[in-house]
Amino acid sequence: MTTRVGIIGTGGIANVHAESLSRLNGAAEIAAVADIDEARSRDFAAKWGGRVDASLDEMLERGGIDIVHLCSPPGLHVAQGEAALAAGVSVLSEKPPALSLAELDRIRAAERRTGASFATVSQHRFGGRARWLAERTRDGGLGEAMTAVCHTLWYRPDSYFDLPWRGTWDSEGGGPTMGHGIHQIDTMLSILGPWREVTAVAARRARPVETEDLSAALVTLESGAVVSVVNSLLSPRETSYLRFDYTHATVELEHLYGYGDDSWRLTPAPDAAESLAADWEASEMGISSGHGAQFAEVYRALDEGRPLPVTSADARDTLELLAAIYASAFEHRPVTRGEIGEDSPFYGSMRGSGAPWASPARTA
Ligand SMILES: NC(=O)c1ccc[n+]([C@@H]2O[C@H](COP(=O)([O-])OP(=O)(O)OC[C@H]3O[C@@H](n4cnc5c(N)ncnc54)[C@H](O)[C@@H]3O)[C@@H](O)[C@H]2O)c1
Repeated sequence: MTTRVGIIGTGGIANVHAESLSRLNGAAEIAAVADIDEARSRDFAAKWGGRVDASLDEMLERGGIDIVHLCSPPGLHVAQGEAALAAGVSVLSEKPPALSLAELDRIRAAERRTGASFATVSQHRFGGRARWLAERTRDGGLGEAMTAVCHTLWYRPDSYFDLPWRGTWDSEGGGPTMGHGIHQIDTMLSILGPWREVTAVAARRARPVETEDLSAALVTLESGAVVSVVNSLLSPRETSYLRFDYTHATVELEHLYGYGDDSWRLTPAPDAAESLAADWEASEMGISSGHGAQFAEVYRALDEGRPLPVTSADARDTLELLAAIYASAFEHRPVTRGEIGEDSPFYGSMRGSGAPWASPARTA
């Protein structure tokens, strides 16, 4: 069955969605598009197809779509998600799915009310070797995870923040922890499993923003493994780096915005080289990370009536760790999983009780 996709927001990332959809051998087609900038949505439809609607509301009224892809700015995902769910239409939202745990809990309540499903884009979970590694972590094939590194060291010049929704608590929700590191952090958790406690620092060192432009955290996982996480927009040699040290091997992934099989490296422990060689070779499946790999899984789940990956429950675990990084950094204390309840200032906003540098925006 061909999935009929509605695209909301036809800016930068929507083109990646369209390109990925065009490579799915007819599994999905763009049925409708909408953007507040009508000229932009018309240009987009002329290039990628689909009827042009004036708004999400009009798209839902006219119907003929199976799933809405939210490619709009982060601050709109929850209201637009709620509207689509209320119309019984499932949602695949760009990251971050919501700006706070409170917002994501609204989405989860809407899912329960309507029976429709809200998924979040987290494309790096879906490359072949990431899935292989998650499986080996679960079945113990590499031994026990001891420690890991999760670095998002990216560079964004001041001009990147010219877009009005960037760099603000109210519309972007946070800095590189929330907007950029979320990819690596979510992938790391999908491989190593749930976290237990975090101690973090955050700073605004250089960019003209309200939010942090740098954070660093030590995360202890349920398994006992300790992960060092760094998120930066100040790093001229950019890299997305994940490193996992198991009893029997170190597994590393180095890429920037997407990886293939050859972005990974296995270094066996001295006595494990032979036993791991065949398994490592078999993990070379030719499935790169990217939107297309996730879309294929999402449409399969939609066809089969299963929850769509990445589910709101999975997204919540990651968002809770991000909230805990901010809470730990701003309150100078370790924060444990489950601690940020409705009465915490970090439940309703990643800014929580306030960043220590809470001076006027964009004048730093
Ligand atoms: N998964 C990834 O790797 C990845 C990469 C880049 C961006 N993103 C995410 O994608 C989202 C969009 O980012 P972008 O870089 O494409 O931004 P963008 O500004 O280029 O595009 C956003 C579009 O949404 C439109 N829009 C704004 N309000 C709207 C509304 N009410 N209804 C319909 N359209 C509306 C804007 O006019 C614009 O065309 C963000 O959440 C961002 O974090 C994800």
